[in-house]
Amino acid sequence: MQDLFGRTALIAGGSSGMGRAVAGLFVARGAEVVLTGRCAQKVQRATGELGTVARPLPFDISDTAQIDTALSTLPDDAIDHLIITAGHVTHGPFHEQDVSEVRQMFDSKFWGAYTLCRAALPKMRAGGSIVLVSGVLSRRPGLNCAGLGAVCAALEGLARGLALELGPRLRVNCVAPGMVRTPLHDRHPEDRREAMFTATGASLPVGRVGWPSEIAEAIVMVATNGYISGHVLDADGGHMIRQYATR
Ligand SMILES: NC(=O)c1ccc[n+]([C@@H]2O[C@H](COP(=O)([O-])OP(=O)(O)OC[C@H]3O[C@@H](n4cnc5c(N)ncnc54)[C@H](OP(=O)(O)O)[C@@H]3O)[C@@H](O)[C@H]2O)c1
Repeated sequence: MQDLFGRTALIAGGSSGMGRAVAGLFVARGAEVVLTGRCAQKVQRATGELGTVARPLPFDISDTAQIDTALSTLPDDAIDHLIITAGHVTHGPFHEQDVSEVRQMFDSKFWGAYTLCRAALPKMRAGGSIVLVSGVLSRRPGLNCAGLGAVCAALEGLARGLALELGPRLRVNCVAPGMVRTPLHDRHPEDRREAMFTATGASLPVGRVGWPSEIAEAIVMVATNGYISGHVLDADGGHMIRQYATR
């Protein structure tokens, strides 16, 4: 299926996890991709894996000057689909976590997405789309995740507002993943990580946590379906209806 031939997707966060899986799907459907991330080496490696249809454009999404410099290298109308999975996340008990840590998360995951959407607008072709990525914590909070839930809720609100304001030129949607096996969780020791995946999976209607390819399919679907805008799509294994253990 080469139905996206001639289209270009810019994937902020395309060097790893869900973003990397999104890039693979776009390329499989004939599109070209521009991949970003903070670490230039990781971006280079991911583009190398995808071949000549992929271009590296590393920048830190929390740094407006870096966004502007990177996007200035693209011609107008260079992007059909803007996908933003990038963002630093953190959690901790509300009364213990340093406020500066939470501000840093907002700077990256929320303000980064907000700023990149603004900067990318002149570079986007009419008929294209934007997909933001939040997380189920926006509406089903977890302990020690109040800040992260707030960032995710802010992104979902932003997606709805932009869908109204930027249509009909562009569609805007948000995908809210549940827990997914990606390098995001590599900071945990393997035994703790597997225990977390097993416990969370057991609490879900589907009985397991997700794979990056499953979230990527949801992202590409809302990016390319011309009749979906202003929508928040949960790709979460049924997290929204799961039973929580009591404290
Ligand atoms: N995995 C989950 O269980 C889960 C659940 C719900 C929601 N989410 C959300 O899904 C999104 C994607 O997560 P993932 O699991 O795919 O994570 P991942 O595998 O760690 O990938 C994150 C990507 O974002 C880039 N990135 C991070 N901070 C950045 C910054 N400041 N500037 C530019 N690029 C940056 C990373 O590049 P560098 O490494 O070079 O910075 C990498 O390409 C995140 O927004 C996350 O909050 C994840």
